[in-house]
Amino acid sequence: MCGIVGYIGNRNATPIIIEGLKRLEYRGYDSSGIAIIDKDSKLKLYKESGKIIELERILPAPKEVYGNIGLAHTRWATHGEPTSTNAHPHTSCSGKIAIVHNGIIENFQILKNKLLAQGHVFASETDSEVVAHLIEHFSRKTDDLTLAVQEALKLVEGTFGIAVISEDHPDRIIAARKGSPLIIGIGKNEFFVTSDVSAIIIHTKKVIYLHDDEIVTVTRDSFEITTLENEVVEATISEIDWDVSSIDKGQFKHFMLKEIFEQPISVENAFRGRLVPKLSTTRLGGLNMTGDELRILEKIQIVACGTSWHAGLIGKYIIEHLSRVQVDVEYASEFRYRNPIIPKNTVVIVISQSGETADTLAALREAQARGVRVLGITNVVGSTIARESDGGVYIHAGAEIGVASTKAFTSQVTVLSLLAVLLGRMRHLSPVFGTNFINELKGIPEKIQKIIESNAQIRKIAETIKDATNALYLGRGVNYPVALEGALKLKEISYIHAEGYPAAEMKHGPIALIDENMPVISIVPKDVIYDKIISNLQEVKARNGRIIAIANKGDDVVSELAENVIYIPETLYDLQPLLSVIPLQLLAYHVADLRSLDVDQPRNLAKSVTVE
Ligand code: M6R
Repeated sequence: MCGIVGYIGNRNATPIIIEGLKRLEYRGYDSSGIAIIDKDSKLKLYKESGKIIELERILPAPKEVYGNIGLAHTRWATHGEPTSTNAHPHTSCSGKIAIVHNGIIENFQILKNKLLAQGHVFASETDSEVVAHLIEHFSRKTDDLTLAVQEALKLVEGTFGIAVISEDHPDRIIAARKGSPLIIGIGKNEFFVTSDVSAIIIHTKKVIYLHDDEIVTVTRDSFEITTLENEVVEATISEIDWDVSSIDKGQFKHFMLKEIFEQPISVENAFRGRLVPKLSTTRLGGLNMTGDELRILEKIQIVACGTSWHAGLIGKYIIEHLSRVQVDVEYASEFRYRNPIIPKNTVVIVISQSGETADTLAALREAQARGVRVLGITNVVGSTIARESDGGVYIHAGAEIGVASTKAFTSQVTVLSLLAVLLGRMRHLSPVFGTNFINELKGIPEKIQKIIESNAQIRKIAETIKDATNALYLGRGVNYPVALEGALKLKEISYIHAEGYPAAEMKHGPIALIDENMPVISIVPKDVIYDKIISNLQEVKARNGRIIAIANKGDDVVSELAENVIYIPETLYDLQPLLSVIPLQLLAYHVADLRSLDVDQPRNLAKSVTVE
């Protein structure tokens, strides 16, 4: 959730790591700081609460913070309030060693008590600071900074992505990981360390993803990776396959709006190369499963959090409908702590945009510990979930920066629909159905584009509900999870309380909330249960609820009932979520923007939730 960026080379580190920090601000943003070893080999430290702009305000003139080596951090508070003292980097008693840390040190209190007894003095309330003191403790016994960090980390229980610099070793950065991402960027006579490639992609696309319990020593012109036991590890260099434009807002006011508008392309990227029209089916090479293994599959257990969980719920509707393979969907945080029944011939599918969500990762490991094959549907290449899964599918949505997930959601649903067709065609789906599905899927990007053209109309509708305090989202069948997703989008960025319900459930309780102030956003496509939803809307109308309907063109019945209608093109039942969610994303965006809120960085949230 926090972000790390470090630099060593021949350039001034300060502007590079500050720029990198800004790219990471979306991950967590209650305070930030930098440590630079200046040209006189002195460690300089600057920390501030609030956004990075606050940190920039306290930085002295650039010349005074000139140094070729530095570390920076954005923090999302776990232990201790978001004050400047609790911000990273943290230093040791001597002030010579600085560390930045992502993750949680679970045994920090025990370690801290021991260090206090030895005379160490702590400045902050954080768990992270113990690492600086531990490294100092071991540095008194060895001249080798890498060895001192190794010894310190061996005592640490919990998770870490960590980077360390020391005044006594002004020619190196030491970095390590366990359960929290750490990446080395390789430049020309310069290296970067970061927790997220977005921070360094403007400098290099060549990266090495550290594995758990690996530690790297980086100098200006070399690097060496070892285990915590000091065994040398051979590095694999990867090339980042997305472009720097993904992390620029371009003409858009916010990343979220840009990412909503990108969906015609991102959805296409999710199915590109995966359609096999000749055989009326799809191909998902990364599953690492043979035809026989796929054919005997009896159950899929989907595990995810937040928006990815909503995509999983849609996956259940589509996969069960098209393939008749049973699908259960569970929150990762629940799955990991109960004793789930996983019958034979089951695969677990974990869905995660970031590939780093702590609960989802823990659920993956729990399933693997039970000997179950785990497939990952992820966006971030090289992420922990992508690496630890037994197989999987990248959604290729490109960098998603807005905290509210939008394009990742439609790409996840696209990939799940490909899986549904693949499994269906191996069972009973006819070639005619397969071909029809593929053709319809190919037309989805254009249909999304059509909906995006209603942006101005949706903003006007947003004006009418921007002061609401509550909102209800209704959908049925495959659009019920879309209602949940619409409600999540609204609440997380506009701070309006919103609930999603299957429309028919309304009369079992939520109907009591309906009055003339309650916006009821309903998804009403022309499908088999259309008449039922219309009846549900009549019930809302009878209680003066303000209906905003997402409906198909030419639907006069809905336009009679609703205060406002947003029209979407017709498509196959299973593909409807790819269209019906777009107006909901735009509506949430405009409501939040009209309320002058920080759309891309809503309060209390972080892009990737790497703590429990
Ligand atoms: O990276 P993941 O897909 O694992 O993240 C899961 C949730 O944290 C995420 O979807 C969250 O709910 C978003 N803020 C939703 O917009």
